[in-house]
Formats: sequence, C-alpha cells, structure tokens
Amino acid sequence: MFLTKEEERALRGEEGEAKARAMQVIVRVGEALGAERLVEIKHAHISGVSFENIGEPGVEFIESFASLGARFSVPTSVNPISYDVEEPSRIPGLQLPPEYLRWQERALKALAKMGAELELTCTPYYAGVPERYNLKKGDHVAWGESSAVAYANSVLGIRSNREGGPLALAAAIAGRTYYYGMHIDEERKPRVEYSVEGELEEAEAGALGEIVVSLHKDSRPPLIRARFSGDAAVREFLAAVSTAGDLAMAHIAGLTPESPGEEVRERLEVERGEIEEALARLRPEGDVDFVYVGCPHSSLGELRELLDMIGSRRLRAKLVISMSRSVFLEALKEGVAERAARLGAALVRDSCLVVSPFYRFNKGSRVVTNSFKAYYYLSRRGVKAYLARTRDLVSYL
Ligand code: F3S
Repeated sequence: MFLTKEEERALRGEEGEAKARAMQVIVRVGEALGAERLVEIKHAHISGVSFENIGEPGVEFIESFASLGARFSVPTSVNPISYDVEEPSRIPGLQLPPEYLRWQERALKALAKMGAELELTCTPYYAGVPERYNLKKGDHVAWGESSAVAYANSVLGIRSNREGGPLALAAAIAGRTYYYGMHIDEERKPRVEYSVEGELEEAEAGALGEIVVSLHKDSRPPLIRARFSGDAAVREFLAAVSTAGDLAMAHIAGLTPESPGEEVRERLEVERGEIEEALARLRPEGDVDFVYVGCPHSSLGELRELLDMIGSRRLRAKLVISMSRSVFLEALKEGVAERAARLGAALVRDSCLVVSPFYRFNKGSRVVTNSFKAYYYLSRRGVKAYLARTRDLVSYL
C-alpha cells in the first residue's frame, strides 16, 4: 500500500504509540482488502459503545487507546449507549446495578478523554454534525453506525464504508481510513435498478428495504426509483437495507446528490403487493405492551406528527420514542416534550430499545414499531416485535 511520508512517520510511532497502533489497524485491514492507499477523513462516528453489546472486553479495548494517550485527529461523534444518561429508568423496566452503570461510564470517560463529542445518537445528521463540521458532498468520513453510513452516502453524498466500532475508533485516531469501496467514485455507480409504484411511508419503506436486499446480488449500490413520504421514510428504508443486508448505500433517484452514471443493465419492478404481504405478515394481532418509534433516532418533525395523530387519547400501551439529546432539547424548547409527557410517553435520549437491556427486563412483551430495523433486532432478542405503518401505530395505543 502506498503511504505518504506523514503516514509512514505515524506508522513508525513518531507521533506516539496510540497513533501507530491505530495506523497499523487501518493499514492491515486496507491491505487485506486490496486498498492502494489511505484517504484523509473529516469526521468519525464511533459505534459499538453500548456496554450491553460490547461488555467488559469492549470497554477495556476503548480504554486501552485512551490510556496510551490517544487523541482523535478529527471531530468524532458517538452512537447510543445502554441507557438514558440522565434518567436510565426512562427505558421501561430498566433497573441497572451501579456496577453496570460504572462500566458504561468508563467507556464514555475514555471516549471523552480522546476528544469525542458525546451526543450519543445514531442520527448525527439530525444533531447538527454535518453543519458543525462543514461535511459536504464528496467528503470522506469513517462512520460506524450502518444506518447512518447509508444515510450519509445516499442522502448527504458524504462518503463512508460501514466501519466496525474498532475500525472507526482507529480511523478517528489516525485521521484516515483505507481508500476502498464507498470512497471510490466507480464503486458508487449502480448497475441494477428497482422501481416501485406509489408513495411509501416508514414501515412500507422498511419492508421495501428488505425486499430489495433479498433480490440484490450486485456489489454496487442499488438504484431505487420510489416515492418516499418524507425524510423519515427514506431513513427507515436505508436503515432496513443496511440491517437486512450489508449495503452501505442505495442510490435514490432524485435524492442522492450525485450522478448514478450509465451502467444500469438490469431493471426490476417490486410489486406493491409484496410490500402489503410483508406488512400483513409482520403486524400484531390484538393488544401490544409497547409502541416504539425512533429507530434510527427520531427527528422533531416526526415526533410532532406522531403526537398530532394521537391527539388527546388515553394510552393503553406505553409509547416510547428515542431521539438525540439535541432533538430532545428542541422538543423541550418548543413544548413538544411537555405534550409527550402529558400523554405519558417516554422520550428516551442517548439510547434505544435495541442497544439497551430493555429485552432483559421485558421478556416476552409485545412491541409494535414502524421501524424494520427495530423489529428485526428486537425479535432476535426475545421480544415479540411487530411492524406497522405509522398511522396504524395509533390504533395500538
Ligand atoms: Fe439507532 Fe438503536 Fe436503531 S442505535 S439505529 S435506534 S438500533
């Protein structure tokens, strides 16, 4: 692999042991993939920070870099953790022993020591990150959260591969990642197109994502011709394609801010009936215990729309909505959080029902969501999870 003089110096340890270790990780993975060189990044987003998912070895791994004196070379944000920092019990049923909290806090402390911004969200694009760091179309970043990576590539035109937690951490320290996959122009040009008739709301978009993944065998991103009802539906589609498969991007006609090129050689139509079938198969019969919105983390607009749909009805099921702290603060400022509180809804910051230990404290409970990603992971964690259109969620409340 070609390395610049500066990169070689860092690899030799002339900029400290931590940076040398980070460079070794990046170079080794890049070489294994056949990357010819590295690329400078403007930002990193680290996933794999929830103590529930990474356990003690994961925390110790993060700390091992911090204890070597590592500093992030680029602005770095962080994915959700196991609980709402200010009020862990906002996640229904959660009772966490002090020892558990201490382990999670150790990970956060180490990340903060290295210079991370602790917004703790999977939607850094709703928390002002692109604006704050002037991230623009064509910029290279190393993001770890698969749904955020798909959103960055497909909606913002910001380039990232799906980096695992340790790789995003190493890239943040090195200030570089390997030049491969989504960083390269040609690799972003679709060769297979999928079209679907009619408008798609959030759950429909998620169901479409799963169908596209089941059909898509090409290594390049798919080209999607579909009409989404809004940004939340686009986000749910992208979260679904990155959950059901390993895609890092979908080129969405009319939205993705770059040319798709002229390499499309196959065109497939997804029947509306297939989406209907998926939704009929996944919807709950009878009552549920929880209605969950905000995977990936919700925007303020969505929260407002949901509350408008609910009106002043008394809730039978518990409503949980997860979001970034920034969005929560806006919701507070605009009186939306108070409206939610009056209904008895739980607005969860810093975390979500999937990466928290919610499943351990609510075994066998029934959760309906408009997020394919949340349905997918919760049902694999022993929760009876279902998928429904946003407007239908209200009927379970
Ligand atoms: Fe975000 Fe949790 Fe979903 S981290 S993408 S809300 S699984």
